[in-house]
Amino acid sequence: MRINNLCKKLITTLHCNTRSRCCVMSWSLLGCILLLHLYSIIQQKHEEGVEFQFNVNHPHPLSHFHELQQVEKENFQIPPPNKKRLHQSKSITPLVDEFLDEHSPLRHVVFFPDKTSAVDPMKSKGNDSYYYYPGRVWLDTDGNPIQAHGGGILFDENSNTYYWYGEYKDGLTYFAHKNKGPARVDIIGVGCYSSKDLWTWKKEGIVLAAEKTNKTHDLHKSNVLERPKVIYNKKTKKYVMWMHIDSANYAKASVGIALSDTPIGPFEYLGSRRPHGYQSRDMTIFKDEDNVAYLIYSSEQNNVMHIGPLTEDYLNVTSVMTRIFVGQRREAPAMFKHKGTYYMVTSGCTGWAPNEALVHTSESILGTWETIGNPCVGGNKMFRVSTFLAQSTFVLPLTKFPGLFIFMADRWNPSELRDSRYVWLPLIVDGSDDQALEYGFGYTLWPRVSIYWHKKWKLPMGWNTFK
Ligand code: GAL
Repeated sequence: MRINNLCKKLITTLHCNTRSRCCVMSWSLLGCILLLHLYSIIQQKHEEGVEFQFNVNHPHPLSHFHELQQVEKENFQIPPPNKKRLHQSKSITPLVDEFLDEHSPLRHVVFFPDKTSAVDPMKSKGNDSYYYYPGRVWLDTDGNPIQAHGGGILFDENSNTYYWYGEYKDGLTYFAHKNKGPARVDIIGVGCYSSKDLWTWKKEGIVLAAEKTNKTHDLHKSNVLERPKVIYNKKTKKYVMWMHIDSANYAKASVGIALSDTPIGPFEYLGSRRPHGYQSRDMTIFKDEDNVAYLIYSSEQNNVMHIGPLTEDYLNVTSVMTRIFVGQRREAPAMFKHKGTYYMVTSGCTGWAPNEALVHTSESILGTWETIGNPCVGGNKMFRVSTFLAQSTFVLPLTKFPGLFIFMADRWNPSELRDSRYVWLPLIVDGSDDQALEYGFGYTLWPRVSIYWHKKWKLPMGWNTFK
C-alpha cells in the first residue's frame, strides 16, 4: 500500500530505534500533515469567499457566533480636559466631550481614522476580505466614500440583491441659524448602493434628488431629508420609500413618501404629512412577516414614540396608532423581530452627539413594550454608554442564522457631516429559551440582546442565503 510505503520511508528517514514506536510517530506525523493540508484548503476557500453548505433544516448552534461574542476591550486614554471644556460640558461622559472636540488628539486616531486606513473592497484581498472596521472610511466600488447615512437596507428578493439607502451628505456643513442650532448639509438626496455580499457596495446613484429651484417644495435643498427607508409591496409591485421631512429648524416635523417601480429608482416624490395629525421626526418603517408594514416615529416634541400600521399599499398610515415609551424621549428607532418577539433599539435625543442606546421588546408590535436595557458589550464603559460613539439606524436580519443581526449605526461628525462614519456590529439575541421559572412571579424573562464591539469582524461563513 502507498501509505505503508510512505510509513517505511518515514521510518528510514527518522532513523528510529524500534520499528513499532517509529510507526506510531510516523502515523501521527502523517495525520498532522493531512490535517494541515485540510486546514489550508478550508482557509483558502474561506478567503476566496466560497460559502459552505449548511443544512438549512438544522438550526445553527450559537457556537457559530462564538468569535462574534468575544468581549473585546478598548484601552485608549482620554487626555485631561482643558479648562474651557470643563465649564462647557453638557454631555454624558468625558469621552463624548473629547469626541465632540475638533482638536482632540484622538480625533484621527480613534474617532475618525483618516482615509489611509479606508476599507476598500476593490483593493483589500485575501486576509482582509469581508472585514468590517467600524468607524473607518468605507469606499464604494468606484473608490469613493459611501454616502448612505441614517440609512437602511432592503433585501430585494426579485434580484437577490441588497440595497442600502441613506442620506447623501457629500456637501458643505454649516449652521442654519448664525452659528446656532444643529449643523446641517443641504439636501442632496437619497443615495442608493447595491451589493451581493454586504461588503462590496456599488453606487446606483441618487434615487430621490433634491429640488434646486422651487423653494416651497419639501425637497428644496434648504430643508431636511433624513433616515430614508425602503420596503417592497408585493401586491402593488412597488418600492415604497418613507423618510423624515423637515424644515431647517425642524418645525415641520413630517414624513415624506416616494414610490418607484425598481429598487434603483428614480423614486417619485408623493408628498409629506404629519401622521395621525402628530409631529414626526426620527422614524423608521418595519415590514412584518405577514406583509403588514408599520411606521414608527418620535413624536410629541420627541417625548413619545408612536407606532401604527400602514395601509395595504404602504402609502399612508391607518387610524390605528399606539403611544409607546411615553416620556422617555427616545429616537433613531431600529426595529427587528426574532422568534415572534419584536425588538427595537433606540437612542436618546442629543442631536448629532452620541448617547446611550436602549433595547425595548414586546410580544405584540403595538405593545405593551418593555425597556430591557443597554445592549452594548465590550469596548469600555464610556464607549458602551455612548453606543460606541454612534446612533442606531437599522437592524438587518441574517435569515440563515436566526438570532444574528447586523446593527447599523451612524458615527456622526457634526463639524463635517459628509465624513460621518458607519458603525456596523454583530447584534445577537441570545437565550432563546426564555422560560419563566415557576417562581418567576409571572414576569416574562426576555432574551438578552447584545451588540458586541469589535475593531474588526466579519460575518460567519455560510450566512449568504442566495450566493
Ligand atoms: C438627531 C437625529 C438625526 C438628526 C440630528 C440633527 O437627534 O437622530 O437624525 O436629526 O438629530 O441634529
